[in-house]
Amino acid sequence: MAIHWFPGHMTKARRQIEDKLKLIDVVIELLDSRLPLSSRNPMIDDILRDKPRLIILNKADLADPEITRKWLAYFKEQGHVAHPVDASTGTGVKEIPEQVKLLLKEKIDRQIARGMNPRAMRALIVGIPNVGKSTLINRMAGKSIAATGDRPGVTKGQQWIKTGGNLELLDTPGILWPKFEDQDVGYRLAVTGAIKEEILNIEDIAFYAVKYLVKDYGSRFQERFGIEKLPEDLENPDEIVAVMEAVGRKRGCLISGGRVDLEKASRALLHELRAGKLGRFTLETP
Ligand code: G4P
Repeated sequence: MAIHWFPGHMTKARRQIEDKLKLIDVVIELLDSRLPLSSRNPMIDDILRDKPRLIILNKADLADPEITRKWLAYFKEQGHVAHPVDASTGTGVKEIPEQVKLLLKEKIDRQIARGMNPRAMRALIVGIPNVGKSTLINRMAGKSIAATGDRPGVTKGQQWIKTGGNLELLDTPGILWPKFEDQDVGYRLAVTGAIKEEILNIEDIAFYAVKYLVKDYGSRFQERFGIEKLPEDLENPDEIVAVMEAVGRKRGCLISGGRVDLEKASRALLHELRAGKLGRFTLETP
């Protein structure tokens, strides 16, 4: 598989996050509800150490709600606090300051006991690309945050974004890398659009998606694409090709001679899947 580690880049990303950790009280770790393990950085515990952490299962609107509940229980068992959110509409976002406050309760209580006025809680959002960090920051800020640092000639220090609920966010999130070394992880990330299609072959990604959808969400899949018979042997590539051909015919992805353009059919399938047209789905269970 043509996915590579970029050790230099990762070391830099890690150092940037470690520098920011000194400025904050709590980390908000964003995961994709559809693949909470694959969208997690493999070294996250090592990077964050004992910094209090709130896990956000973002894009919960796209995930299978029953499996999201299982993931929430799973993280609780691991001693974490996890909370489902849809940053694109804001569902679950207003509870975040309250959750952070609970995590920092002891620290806040200590400040109060010393007669201090508890200062604003400061948080850093971290997560892999495309998991929804900017969307969440903008949603919590209640406006679009201009990335001043991107403008030439403008240098800036750390900017704090007020979110209400006595919680402030660092304006630039920490970007983490996903776990690349496992082929399945790569395909799951690609199915959700978290990694670029140029990295993996689009037809391979669609084939992976078909296998999974047929197995776990067969009747929905069958209905949407009008497929007469679902494959019985998911390890038989011919049966998967037959399904992709049916998808292609349904979506008019044809080339001369009436043959199905499998690349186009793959794009159509993945587009519909990512847009939630096939309903809510989750690719990993705890
Ligand atoms: P990043 O900063 O972590 O890289 O991610 P970003 O916020 O840019 O979000 C990546 C994509 O995910 C965006 O879609 C965004 O709208 C979408 N998104 C973020 N949170 C949620 C969520 O909770 N639910 C759903 N359904 N989508 C979410 P895009 O297609 O790349 O951009 P756009 O079409 O929204 O502009």
